[in-house]
Amino acid sequence: MTFNSPTEKHHYVNTMFARIAHRYDTMNRIMTGGQDRRWRKLLIQQAQLPPQGKLLDIATGTGDIAFEALRQHPHLEQVVGADFTLPMLREAKRRGGEAMRLPVSSPPRVTLPLSWSGADTLHLPFADNTFDAVASGFLMRNVTSVPLALAEQRRVCKPGGRVLILEIPRPADTWFGRLFRLYFHRVVPFIGGLISGQRDAYAYLPASAEVFLRPNELKAEMEKTGLREVSYTMLMFGTVALHVGVK
Ligand SMILES: C[S@@+](CC[C@H](N)C(=O)[O-])C[C@H]1O[C@@H](n2cnc3c(N)ncnc32)[C@H](O)[C@@H]1O
Repeated sequence: MTFNSPTEKHHYVNTMFARIAHRYDTMNRIMTGGQDRRWRKLLIQQAQLPPQGKLLDIATGTGDIAFEALRQHPHLEQVVGADFTLPMLREAKRRGGEAMRLPVSSPPRVTLPLSWSGADTLHLPFADNTFDAVASGFLMRNVTSVPLALAEQRRVCKPGGRVLILEIPRPADTWFGRLFRLYFHRVVPFIGGLISGQRDAYAYLPASAEVFLRPNELKAEMEKTGLREVSYTMLMFGTVALHVGVK
């Protein structure tokens, strides 16, 4: 799948996520065998949020990272889930109550410090140095400029805070990478078509990974943005990467 301009890609991504919003979670669980929840748990663990910290989950989609943050840290001061696809945010809002079954040990809070924001990740509507951690899950393949997205993530992060990126990198040229490609290019669009009725969306997914960065390349881009101590962990047999950098 190729785009003639950044505007065309931006529009496709936005409208495509709007079309699959109602089936997004079901398809995630099926595609990953339920492993996606484990990755988001790890992401929040690696965010090293202070007890009353602030988290921005950009491209929050249906809110899984934001919900996981409050599950692990019920006393955070602020969690913002931002996304430019309003039907995804609507799903997040709808799921809010159910997803927020907090641990029994945590005393109930009258209001959750959780808010949703319609925002483009390339122009975040937040002041410099606002958040203790800025996280994204499966966003970076979709943006029209990785350097600009990283610059925005770094800008709104506090000095000493963390930028975390969970993403599917370009598959490796190993025998397992080839096997994964087969699954990704043949099986995923087929199942995605059945579940969501939007086969093209699940053909775009592997196609966008094919033209995305390899893990060491994304690490280099993060360092170029000025993030330090950048490291990454490979998950799911090397098909998913979690990058972490410090501002
Ligand atoms: C694959 S979903 C990931 C959702 C969620 N983070 C998760 O882990 O399941 C990608 C999300 O990125 C959002 N997105 C893509 N480009 C964006 C942009 N430029 N600004 C804001 N959101 C964007 C889409 O609307 C979609 O909700």
